[in-house]
Amino acid sequence: MTLVGTPAWSALVDHHATLASTHLRDLLADRARVEALSLEASGIHVDLSRQRLTVESLRLLVALAEVRGVADHLRALQGGATVNRTEARAALHTALRAPRSARIEVDGTDVVPEVHAVLDAMRAFAERVRDGSHRGATGSRIRTVVHIGIGGSHLGPEMVTTALRPYVDPALAVRYISNVDGADLRRALTGLDPAETLCIVASKTFTTAETMANAHAVRAWVVDALGEDAVGQHFVAVSTALSEVAAFGIAPERTFGFWDWVGGRFSVSSAIGLPVMLAIGAARFDEFLAGMRAMDEHAAAAPLATNLPVLLALVDVWNTDLEEYGTRAVLPYASDLARFPAFLQQLEMESNGKSVDEDGAPVTVATSPIVWGAPGTDAQHAFLQLLHQGTVVAPVDLIVVARAHDPVGDHQDVLVANAIAQAEALARGRFAAELADAGVDAALVPHRVFPGDRPSTILMLDALTPERLGALVALHEHRVAVAGRIWGIDSFDQWGVELGKVLATRILDEIRAGTTGDHDPATAATISRYRARRA
Ligand code: F6P
Repeated sequence: MTLVGTPAWSALVDHHATLASTHLRDLLADRARVEALSLEASGIHVDLSRQRLTVESLRLLVALAEVRGVADHLRALQGGATVNRTEARAALHTALRAPRSARIEVDGTDVVPEVHAVLDAMRAFAERVRDGSHRGATGSRIRTVVHIGIGGSHLGPEMVTTALRPYVDPALAVRYISNVDGADLRRALTGLDPAETLCIVASKTFTTAETMANAHAVRAWVVDALGEDAVGQHFVAVSTALSEVAAFGIAPERTFGFWDWVGGRFSVSSAIGLPVMLAIGAARFDEFLAGMRAMDEHAAAAPLATNLPVLLALVDVWNTDLEEYGTRAVLPYASDLARFPAFLQQLEMESNGKSVDEDGAPVTVATSPIVWGAPGTDAQHAFLQLLHQGTVVAPVDLIVVARAHDPVGDHQDVLVANAIAQAEALARGRFAAELADAGVDAALVPHRVFPGDRPSTILMLDALTPERLGALVALHEHRVAVAGRIWGIDSFDQWGVELGKVLATRILDEIRAGTTGDHDPATAATISRYRARRA
């Protein structure tokens, strides 16, 4: 599956070299190019015109996608093929939002009826919590949901609950506990009454150490206040590991299942989204799923040259491997999307942060960039200095929402004007001659020069509704899968998280036993220092 040396790759490399001395200012002067690099699907407009590439570059990238079998890959994904080869699994998150009428088989079994059975159970339960018919052990109404989970069992639902703030029922707060840190637990439980609290333990495997530690601590908090018998009324589980859930003491009728063909970071549309459904209601959650489904359909059906996730992935490949940028900043100009960069970090970096291809051979090109970011305009007053004038160039995705949920004066115009200004400043820069013409003191000119030629993409949503957010999430799920396909890697495994887990278990045993085990001197010294200081 090597890329380097293939005709499609060589054509791209040669073409890229012809753009070496082209500045984005020159590219932006071409109106036809700007129009050609402007696309829309499922209510999301994507403007690629501020990328350092031409229509011909995109044509060559699409040709690369063709020879890498991207269209077949997208169909295979949605068809339930075993695309996660190292774990011998499908990656069938799209089935989670398939209509009831669909038929999608995994190993000869149609999974759609099971998906809808779980969704129906979630809807019925969420309705009972929201209308007050599901009560706590003392008869109190549930006022708070505490969701316990980490990684994919946390970042998706937390991001979506935060993003859909205007749709959240103020009578039912949702709090999240992820880190195995007493501070996280304390912050989440402070001020809560166990009698009015519903706890969701969300873990695909139901063995994740952090989640189990937090689940047991919260269970003790409930039992201390309400007694052992209260656990049934106050705990529900979301998992694929039904026997582990039963061992924890949560009954099958309080357990919402999903399947091993749903990867953790792709699981927000599974029962992992239960806290979202509790917060915004089943009808709004259905809209979120409908937005995802619309993007799934676009990804599967649109030609590669107009396929949004494909084009975004191809630009990622261009920026990572031809332009050789090592990171990508994601700046949502919407505070409600504050957790979107964190969600994307897992989605992209856990999926495509790989150094070997599907066959185990070393990759010959760079794979996932480091994804990072923060909401604008805050980011402008923090790190945009470096993006404009620093020695490191990072392509930027600016996510802009056209219609505000909370119109306050002309805030939204100010916010969006800033996003557009950043894109223009990054692309065009400000040259020394322009500064001199403007009368800037010669000594200051070098400090005030903006080189420009720094790429960005604007993703514009008409509004941050459940449907649009669903489309945005699915867009990125497919973007990741397509980039992984181009790079020839398995985007659906995550072996890189294992070693740390194994070592942490050993080191914890050693900390408890007062030994330092068989470690290098630095590790042994750190263990001893920690033990001495905590005492
Ligand atoms: O850290 C690795 C990981 O396996 C992620 O892929 C996953 O989302 C997270 O841990 C949580 O796993 P689980 O849902 O099984 O608790």
